Amino acid sequence: MTANGDPARILGQYESYPYPSLPEDGKRYSELANLVRLFEMECGYTFANKRILDVGTGTGLRLLELASTYPNNEYLGIDFSEPSIQYAEMAKKSYDDTSVSFRAIDAAKLNTQEFGQYDFIFCMGVLHHLENPRELLTTLSRLTTKNGAIFFYVYGEYGSAERMKRKRFLTHFHGEDATHAKIAMAKTMGFTDFPYGWELRNQQDVDAMIVDAYINNYEVLYTLEKIHDIIPHDEFSTWIPFGFALENNGVLVESRLSNDNKLPLPRATPEKFLTSLDLRERYAALPKRQQLLLLEDWFQPSGYTVLLQGGDFLSQLGNPRRLSENTWE
Ligand SMILES: C[S@@+](CC[C@H](N)C(=O)[O-])C[C@H]1O[C@@H](n2cnc3c(N)ncnc32)[C@H](O)[C@@H]1O
Repeated sequence: MTANGDPARILGQYESYPYPSLPEDGKRYSELANLVRLFEMECGYTFANKRILDVGTGTGLRLLELASTYPNNEYLGIDFSEPSIQYAEMAKKSYDDTSVSFRAIDAAKLNTQEFGQYDFIFCMGVLHHLENPRELLTTLSRLTTKNGAIFFYVYGEYGSAERMKRKRFLTHFHGEDATHAKIAMAKTMGFTDFPYGWELRNQQDVDAMIVDAYINNYEVLYTLEKIHDIIPHDEFSTWIPFGFALENNGVLVESRLSNDNKLPLPRATPEKFLTSLDLRERYAALPKRQQLLLLEDWFQPSGYTVLLQGGDFLSQLGNPRRLSENTWE
C-alpha cells in the first residue's frame, strides 16, 4: 500500500506487534501442520528425517505445532524480530520434546556455510513485505537441498478489496503512522473480524492481528503473473500454485484428493463454471497457464500458497500427478 518498503519499518512493526498473537490456553495454530498433512496424503511425501527451515517464523506458533505433529525432523525458525523470537522461545516451553530451534536473524543473512541446506523451507507471509522478494528466493534456493522444495505464501490482489478498503479507511483518518490511533479506530469500527488466514485465537490480544491485516506498513499484493515475475527461474525449474486463500477458507488448486479423511478439502476446480459441453471442451484445450488464470479469476484469491522446486523434488513423490499437471508453464 505505502511506497515505503524500508525493512526497518517492517521490523519495527513486528517488534512492536509480534505475530501471530499468543493463543488462549489450548488453542493452536495448526495451518502449517494441516498444509503438510494434506501434502503428505495427496502427494506421497514422507515428512520425516528432514531438515526444515521456517523463514519469518514470527512467534513460531505454527512451526511448533508442525514440529509436534511431525516430531522426527530437525526444525529451525528464524525471524528478524527479536521480540517475536522471544515469544517463540517462551511458547516452546509448553511443547515437550520438540526439536525446534529459533534464531533472531535477518533472512538476508542466511547462508549455507553457517546453516547448511534444508529439505523443506517454509516462507509464509514474508515475501509480500519485501521490496526485493526475488533476492530472498535466490538466497533460499541455495539453502535448499537438491531434492528439496519451498512452500511460500503471499497475499492476493483480487481477493483483498475489502481488507484494503478498511486499511485505506484508517489511513484517511490517521495518515501512514499513528498505529495506536488506528488500532483504536479499527476496534471502534468493528474491524476485529478477519479474513481467512488471520483467525483470532485470543480475543484479548487482537492488536497484532489488526496491525497485520489492516495497518501493515508495507505489503505488495500478488497475482499469478506477478508471482511468476518474482521467481528466480535460473534457480527453480518449476513452480506450482498449490492453494488459494479465499475470504473464508483455503482451497486446493485442482486437487484430486479423495474425501475419505478427516481434513476439510475444499478445492478450486473449474467444473461449476463450465456450464456447457462446448465450454468444457474449450477449457480442456487451453494451455495450463490459461486454465490457471481462469481459476484465479473465478476464485479471486486473497492469498496464494506456492510450491517451488529446483531439482528432483517431484520425482521422489509417491503421487506427483496433481503437481506435475498444474505446473505453471
Ligand atoms: C506475517 S508474519 C508471518 C509469521 C509466520 N510465518 C506465520 O505464517 O504466522 C511475517 C514475519 O516475517 C518477518 N520478516 C519480515 N522480513 C524479514 C526478514 N528480512 N528477515 C526475517 N524475518 C522477516 C516479520 O518479522 C514477521 O514476523
